[in-house]
Amino acid sequence: MEIKRENLIATLGGEEAVARMDSEAKADALEDFLSTELDKILLSKDPFPTVAEVEQKIPTRHYRMGVGNLFVAQAPGAKVKTLAPMPDKPTLYDFFEKRFAPANHVLQSAALAMKNGMPEEIILACLLHDTAQALMKADHGYWAAQMYTPYVPEKTAFAIKYHQALRFFPDPAFDYEYPDLYRRLFGEDYVPLPHIRADYEMLRKHPWYDAPRLVTVNDYYSFDPNAKISIDPFREIIGRHFKQPKEGLGNDNSPVAHMWRTIARPDMAL
Ligand SMILES: [Fe+2]
Ligand SMILES: [Fe+2]
Repeated sequence: MEIKRENLIATLGGEEAVARMDSEAKADALEDFLSTELDKILLSKDPFPTVAEVEQKIPTRHYRMGVGNLFVAQAPGAKVKTLAPMPDKPTLYDFFEKRFAPANHVLQSAALAMKNGMPEEIILACLLHDTAQALMKADHGYWAAQMYTPYVPEKTAFAIKYHQALRFFPDPAFDYEYPDLYRRLFGEDYVPLPHIRADYEMLRKHPWYDAPRLVTVNDYYSFDPNAKISIDPFREIIGRHFKQPKEGLGNDNSPVAHMWRTIARPDMAL
């Protein structure tokens, strides 16, 4: 994965447009291009850090790595943006468009799952599996499963919840290797936490092991600034399997409605 200069220039409107930009505008544009901390980490060519080196970086940041993407502008000096208002009765599509966007990672994962002929419950799990990172990145699989449990098939919620644990454990039977991204994020000598290990041991004997494993297999990282991935190919699957509350997500008084409200209005002070 690499950034091509011509791709960056093209997304900014061409050489002439770039020539007219001052350095602050260029820095903002680059920040938008590398829209998340994750993208920057993925592009790194540095050797993998140790766990101790990862910890040493904590007091160098003005935010914590586990914070939800909606809640912090991660580049030093960057500002968060005013969010588009949500409609009165927000649907899953409104959240994708106005709060999860660009959501390229999950859309690409779902597209890969569809191409690979996965069952619809798994394609839906791939589509939703990391969307809770808008709210919270730490333990994101567990947050996401909770957020979606009232609205999706049980197996989809199971797959979303446990993809996070299975990401730490290779499985040659599925051609799944431990990701380099995790060596970079957690340190090359990182040992998964006890709850992750315990869930892995539980999953190995579980009849639904394949469900979260297939999410990890289709968990797809790519950085293509020209890729325009739409949610349209998944509308039928969403229509068949996602129980959209008629009052709108966040307004249905479900046990997780507050999670959706928090994503809808992350600028509320309290
Ligand atoms: Fe994930
Ligand atoms: Fe993912």
